[in-house]
Amino acid sequence: MLMKIVETAVRPIAKWLMPRPVRLWAKDILNARRVRRNPARIVLVQEILPAYAACGGRILWIGCRRYTKKYGPLLERNGGECWTVDIESAHAKWGEKGRHFTWDLLSIDRLFAAESFDTVLCNGVFGFGVDARHAQLAALQAMGSILKPGGRLLLGWNTDRIEDPVSFDFVQNAFVGDDLTAHGARWAVPAAGYVYDFLRRRE
Ligand SMILES: C[S@@+](CC[C@H](N)C(=O)[O-])C[C@H]1O[C@@H](n2cnc3c(N)ncnc32)[C@H](O)[C@@H]1O
Repeated sequence: MLMKIVETAVRPIAKWLMPRPVRLWAKDILNARRVRRNPARIVLVQEILPAYAACGGRILWIGCRRYTKKYGPLLERNGGECWTVDIESAHAKWGEKGRHFTWDLLSIDRLFAAESFDTVLCNGVFGFGVDARHAQLAALQAMGSILKPGGRLLLGWNTDRIEDPVSFDFVQNAFVGDDLTAHGARWAVPAAGYVYDFLRRRE
């Protein structure tokens, strides 16, 4: 609350005083701070990512921001190998060094070989760039293709931004629910209007 008041008071002065790149940098820092405190993000970092890390294997993280930079080391702490992808070249600095690609998720199956990942983590991308249903279906098909049979897919999404992505016939046919965290195949965080869906590619 106090931060909100300070932000509201400071923004017009900052706009006048600061050059645009500095303003954007400050905005990004504040956004990262807000995201890190979100209850759904706390669940992700404290419980969900460690559960995937425990599985090891080859892991793909989609969508890189300032606040995701430490996820790679976290995901690799049990011997896993993390790769990252983002459509924005400016976001490469937050991806994994030597294992990051600037690429469109919708054609991820043209970047990576079929059945080459144990896990794909797609959090906060549907509704933040991959918005249309047809685009989400194309992304799901592409992610399904690079996953090994039995491979794991995480879909994290805002309930007020998109329709349920698990409702696609493709998802119903190609995936089964995954009880990785012992919270069932769907972990909703109502306080954040957020849902995590845990899926496994059918064998
Ligand atoms: C809201 S951020 C979420 C970042 C991160 N995945 C997280 O958990 O917070 C959305 C990210 O997805 C990226 N993105 C959007 N559309 C994409 C696409 N078609 N292919 C790859 N990345 C995309 C954006 O550039 C942005 O970095």
